Amino acid sequence: MAELLRVEGVSAGYGEAVVLSNISLALEEGQTLALLGRNGTGKTTLINTLAGATRQHAGSITLGGVALHKLPAHERAAAGIGWVPQERNIFKSLTVDENLTAVARPGAWTPERVYGMFPRLAERKSNLGTQLSGGEQQMLAVGRALVLNPKLLLLDEPLEGLAPIIVEELLKAIRRITREEGLAAIIVEQHPQAILKISDSAVVLDRGTVVHAGSALDLLQRPALLDRLLGVAC
Ligand SMILES: Nc1ncnc2c1ncn2[C@@H]1O[C@H](COP(=O)(O)OP(=O)(O)O)[C@@H](O)[C@H]1O
Ligand SMILES: [Mg+2]
Repeated sequence: MAELLRVEGVSAGYGEAVVLSNISLALEEGQTLALLGRNGTGKTTLINTLAGATRQHAGSITLGGVALHKLPAHERAAAGIGWVPQERNIFKSLTVDENLTAVARPGAWTPERVYGMFPRLAERKSNLGTQLSGGEQQMLAVGRALVLNPKLLLLDEPLEGLAPIIVEELLKAIRRITREEGLAAIIVEQHPQAILKISDSAVVLDRGTVVHAGSALDLLQRPALLDRLLGVAC
Protein backbone atom coordinates (compact mmCIF):
# COMPACT_ATOMS: atom_id res chain seq x y z
CA MET A 1 0.00 0.00 0.00
CA ALA A 2 1.18 3.52 -0.73
CA GLU A 3 2.45 5.78 1.99
CA LEU A 4 0.11 8.66 2.79
CA LEU A 5 1.67 10.55 5.68
CA ARG A 6 5.28 10.96 6.72
CA VAL A 7 6.31 12.96 9.75
CA GLU A 8 10.05 13.37 10.15
CA GLY A 9 11.99 14.95 13.01
CA VAL A 10 9.18 17.30 13.97
CA SER A 11 9.58 19.67 16.88
CA ALA A 12 6.70 21.99 17.67
CA GLY A 13 4.95 23.91 20.40
CA TYR A 14 3.28 27.17 21.24
CA GLY A 15 5.21 30.41 20.99
CA GLU A 16 8.67 29.81 22.42
CA ALA A 17 7.57 26.67 24.31
CA VAL A 18 8.66 23.44 22.63
CA VAL A 19 6.22 20.62 23.45
CA LEU A 20 7.12 18.01 20.83
CA SER A 21 10.66 17.03 20.01
CA ASN A 22 11.91 14.96 17.15
CA ILE A 23 8.65 13.17 16.31
CA SER A 24 8.75 10.73 13.39
CA LEU A 25 5.97 8.46 12.18
CA ALA A 26 4.41 7.20 8.97
CA LEU A 27 0.97 6.07 7.88
CA GLU A 28 -0.17 4.22 4.75
CA GLU A 29 -3.31 4.98 2.77
CA GLY A 30 -6.45 3.57 4.35
CA GLN A 31 -4.73 2.76 7.64
CA THR A 32 -5.72 3.80 11.15
CA LEU A 33 -3.19 4.90 13.76
CA ALA A 34 -4.01 5.04 17.46
CA LEU A 35 -2.17 7.94 19.12
CA LEU A 36 -1.89 7.18 22.81
CA GLY A 37 -0.24 8.62 25.90
CA ARG A 38 -1.00 9.93 29.34
CA ASN A 39 -2.58 13.32 29.89
CA GLY A 40 -0.34 16.21 28.84
CA THR A 41 2.11 14.11 26.79
CA GLY A 42 1.57 16.05 23.56
CA LYS A 43 -1.12 14.14 21.67
CA THR A 44 -3.27 17.18 20.96
CA THR A 45 -0.18 19.23 20.12
CA LEU A 46 0.80 16.62 17.52
CA ILE A 47 -2.69 16.59 15.99
CA ASN A 48 -2.71 20.42 16.01
CA THR A 49 0.73 20.42 14.38
CA LEU A 50 -0.57 18.23 11.53
CA ALA A 51 -3.48 20.65 11.17
CA GLY A 52 -1.11 23.63 11.20
CA ALA A 53 -2.31 25.13 14.47
CA THR A 54 0.98 25.18 16.39
CA ARG A 55 4.38 26.66 15.84
CA GLN A 56 6.61 24.12 14.12
CA HIS A 57 10.32 24.57 14.86
CA ALA A 58 11.85 21.70 12.91
CA GLY A 59 11.15 18.70 10.72
CA SER A 60 8.90 17.91 7.79
CA ILE A 61 5.34 16.66 7.29
CA THR A 62 4.32 15.28 3.91
CA LEU A 63 0.82 14.15 2.94
CA GLY A 64 0.51 12.33 -0.37
CA GLY A 65 3.81 13.86 -1.41
CA VAL A 66 2.76 17.44 -0.54
CA ALA A 67 4.93 19.32 1.97
CA LEU A 68 2.21 20.07 4.50
CA HIS A 69 4.48 21.93 6.92
CA LYS A 70 4.88 24.68 4.34
CA LEU A 71 1.13 25.31 4.12
CA PRO A 72 -0.81 27.63 6.44
CA ALA A 73 -3.60 25.96 8.46
CA HIS A 74 -6.37 27.21 6.17
CA GLU A 75 -4.81 25.48 3.16
CA ARG A 76 -4.42 22.10 4.84
CA ALA A 77 -8.06 21.04 4.39
CA ALA A 78 -7.64 21.40 0.62
CA ALA A 79 -4.45 19.33 0.92
CA GLY A 80 -6.46 16.49 2.50
CA ILE A 81 -6.57 17.05 6.27
CA GLY A 82 -9.95 16.56 7.99
CA TRP A 83 -9.51 17.78 11.54
CA VAL A 84 -11.89 17.15 14.44
CA PRO A 85 -10.32 19.20 17.27
CA GLN A 86 -10.58 18.19 20.92
CA GLU A 87 -12.95 21.12 21.47
CA ARG A 88 -15.58 20.31 18.83
CA ASN A 89 -15.44 23.19 16.41
CA ILE A 90 -19.00 23.35 15.15
CA PHE A 91 -20.72 26.63 14.33
CA LYS A 92 -23.17 26.98 17.20
CA SER A 93 -25.27 29.68 15.53
CA LEU A 94 -25.83 27.61 12.37
CA THR A 95 -28.14 24.63 11.92
CA VAL A 96 -26.80 21.10 11.59
CA ASP A 97 -27.44 21.20 7.85
CA GLU A 98 -25.78 24.61 7.45
CA ASN A 99 -22.76 23.37 9.40
CA LEU A 100 -22.31 20.57 6.87
CA THR A 101 -23.09 22.46 3.68
CA ALA A 102 -20.96 25.47 4.67
CA VAL A 103 -17.74 23.46 4.54
CA ALA A 104 -18.58 20.64 2.07
CA ARG A 105 -16.14 20.04 -0.76
CA PRO A 106 -16.84 17.84 -3.80
CA GLY A 107 -16.26 14.14 -3.28
CA ALA A 108 -17.75 10.90 -2.06
CA TRP A 109 -18.84 12.31 1.32
CA THR A 110 -21.92 14.50 1.01
CA PRO A 111 -24.17 15.83 3.80
CA GLU A 112 -26.70 13.13 2.78
CA ARG A 113 -24.10 10.43 3.28
CA VAL A 114 -23.24 11.86 6.69
CA TYR A 115 -26.94 11.67 7.62
CA GLY A 116 -26.91 8.02 6.55
CA MET A 117 -23.98 7.41 8.89
CA PHE A 118 -25.55 9.40 11.76
CA PRO A 119 -29.37 9.12 11.62
CA ARG A 120 -29.48 11.18 14.84
CA LEU A 121 -28.11 14.17 12.90
CA ALA A 122 -30.67 13.68 10.14
CA GLU A 123 -33.41 14.06 12.76
CA ARG A 124 -31.83 17.32 13.93
CA LYS A 125 -31.06 18.83 10.52
CA SER A 126 -32.74 22.14 11.32
CA ASN A 127 -31.59 22.41 14.94
CA LEU A 128 -28.96 24.97 15.84
CA GLY A 129 -25.58 23.86 17.12
CA THR A 130 -26.54 25.24 20.55
CA GLN A 131 -29.47 22.81 20.70
CA LEU A 132 -27.38 19.66 20.30
CA SER A 133 -26.24 17.26 23.02
CA GLY A 134 -22.51 16.60 23.46
CA GLY A 135 -22.77 13.37 21.48
CA GLU A 136 -24.65 15.05 18.65
CA GLN A 137 -22.08 17.86 18.55
CA GLN A 138 -19.31 15.28 18.27
CA MET A 139 -21.14 13.49 15.43
CA LEU A 140 -21.56 16.82 13.67
CA ALA A 141 -17.86 17.62 14.15
CA VAL A 142 -16.96 14.26 12.56
CA GLY A 143 -19.50 14.88 9.78
CA ARG A 144 -17.99 18.28 9.08
CA ALA A 145 -14.56 16.72 8.69
CA LEU A 146 -15.96 14.00 6.40
CA VAL A 147 -17.66 16.40 3.96
CA LEU A 148 -14.24 18.00 3.42
CA ASN A 149 -13.50 14.67 1.71
CA PRO A 150 -10.12 14.38 3.39
CA LYS A 151 -7.34 11.90 2.76
CA LEU A 152 -6.55 11.80 6.48
CA LEU A 153 -9.03 12.20 9.31
CA LEU A 154 -7.65 13.52 12.62
CA LEU A 155 -9.86 12.64 15.60
CA ASP A 156 -8.81 14.09 18.95
CA GLU A 157 -10.53 12.19 21.78
CA PRO A 158 -13.79 11.72 19.87
CA LEU A 159 -15.34 9.67 22.68
CA GLU A 160 -14.44 12.00 25.54
CA GLY A 161 -17.24 12.89 27.91
CA LEU A 162 -19.95 10.98 26.05
CA ALA A 163 -22.58 8.63 27.50
CA PRO A 164 -21.77 4.92 26.98
CA ILE A 165 -24.59 4.39 24.49
CA ILE A 166 -23.35 7.31 22.36
CA VAL A 167 -19.77 6.04 22.63
CA GLU A 168 -20.97 2.74 21.11
CA GLU A 169 -22.79 4.55 18.31
CA LEU A 170 -19.83 6.79 17.49
CA LEU A 171 -17.32 3.92 17.67
CA LYS A 172 -19.44 1.95 15.22
CA ALA A 173 -19.45 4.91 12.83
CA ILE A 174 -15.69 5.45 13.20
CA ARG A 175 -15.13 1.75 12.55
CA ARG A 176 -17.22 1.99 9.36
CA ILE A 177 -15.43 5.13 8.20
CA THR A 178 -11.99 3.62 8.68
CA ARG A 179 -12.44 -0.11 8.12
CA GLU A 180 -15.18 -0.20 5.49
CA GLU A 181 -14.70 3.13 3.74
CA GLY A 182 -10.92 2.86 3.94
CA LEU A 183 -10.27 6.44 5.05
CA ALA A 184 -6.91 6.93 6.79
CA ALA A 185 -7.21 8.21 10.34
CA ILE A 186 -5.24 9.17 13.42
CA ILE A 187 -7.33 8.69 16.56
CA VAL A 188 -6.30 10.08 19.94
CA GLU A 189 -7.73 8.28 22.94
CA GLN A 190 -6.94 8.05 26.63
CA HIS A 191 -8.74 4.72 26.92
CA PRO A 192 -6.95 2.60 24.37
CA GLN A 193 -8.78 -0.74 24.24
CA ALA A 194 -11.66 0.18 21.94
CA ILE A 195 -9.46 2.24 19.63
CA LEU A 196 -6.64 -0.31 19.38
CA LYS A 197 -9.21 -2.85 18.21
CA ILE A 198 -10.04 -0.74 15.15
CA SER A 199 -6.48 0.51 14.49
CA ASP A 200 -3.65 -0.93 12.43
CA SER A 201 -0.76 0.76 14.18
CA ALA A 202 -0.14 2.55 17.45
CA VAL A 203 2.17 5.31 18.61
CA VAL A 204 2.63 6.19 22.27
CA LEU A 205 3.89 9.61 23.34
CA ASP A 206 5.53 10.58 26.61
CA ARG A 207 6.79 14.08 27.36
CA GLY A 208 6.50 15.06 23.73
CA THR A 209 8.47 12.20 22.23
CA VAL A 210 7.58 8.84 20.71
CA VAL A 211 8.25 6.10 23.28
CA HIS A 212 6.60 3.24 21.41
CA ALA A 213 5.55 2.56 17.82
CA GLY A 214 4.26 -0.73 16.46
CA SER A 215 1.22 -2.72 15.48
CA ALA A 216 -2.06 -2.07 17.31
CA LEU A 217 -2.72 -5.79 17.67
CA ASP A 218 0.68 -6.34 19.27
CA LEU A 219 -0.01 -3.67 21.87
CA LEU A 220 -3.50 -5.04 22.50
CA GLN A 221 -2.00 -8.45 23.21
CA ARG A 222 0.60 -7.09 25.63
CA PRO A 223 -1.42 -5.57 28.49
CA ALA A 224 1.65 -5.31 30.75
CA LEU A 225 3.47 -3.19 28.16
CA LEU A 226 0.39 -1.07 27.56
CA ASP A 227 0.02 -0.61 31.28
CA ARG A 228 3.64 0.47 31.62
CA LEU A 229 3.41 2.89 28.71
CA LEU A 230 0.14 4.46 29.77
CA GLY A 231 0.22 3.89 33.50
CA VAL A 232 -3.44 2.96 33.61
CA ALA A 233 -5.23 -0.27 34.24
CA CYS A 234 -6.96 -1.18 31.01
N1 LIG B 1 -1.89 26.64 23.97
C1 LIG B 1 -0.86 26.18 24.69
N2 LIG B 1 0.17 27.00 25.05
C2 LIG B 1 1.22 26.54 25.77
N3 LIG B 1 1.36 25.27 26.18
C3 LIG B 1 0.39 24.40 25.86
C4 LIG B 1 -0.78 24.80 25.11
N4 LIG B 1 -1.56 23.72 24.93
C5 LIG B 1 -0.93 22.70 25.55
N5 LIG B 1 0.23 23.10 26.11
C6 LIG B 1 1.18 22.25 26.84
O1 LIG B 1 1.66 21.23 26.00
C7 LIG B 1 1.79 20.00 26.70
C8 LIG B 1 1.06 18.91 25.96
O2 LIG B 1 -0.32 19.20 25.95
P1 LIG B 1 -1.33 18.44 25.00
O3 LIG B 1 -0.75 18.34 23.65
O4 LIG B 1 -2.65 19.10 25.14
O5 LIG B 1 -1.36 16.98 25.68
P2 LIG B 1 -2.41 15.79 25.55
O6 LIG B 1 -3.31 16.05 24.40
O7 LIG B 1 -1.54 14.57 25.36
O8 LIG B 1 -3.13 15.73 26.86
C9 LIG B 1 1.28 20.25 28.11
O9 LIG B 1 2.39 20.44 28.95
C10 LIG B 1 0.48 21.51 27.98
O10 LIG B 1 0.54 22.26 29.17
MG1 LIG C 1 -5.38 16.26 24.29
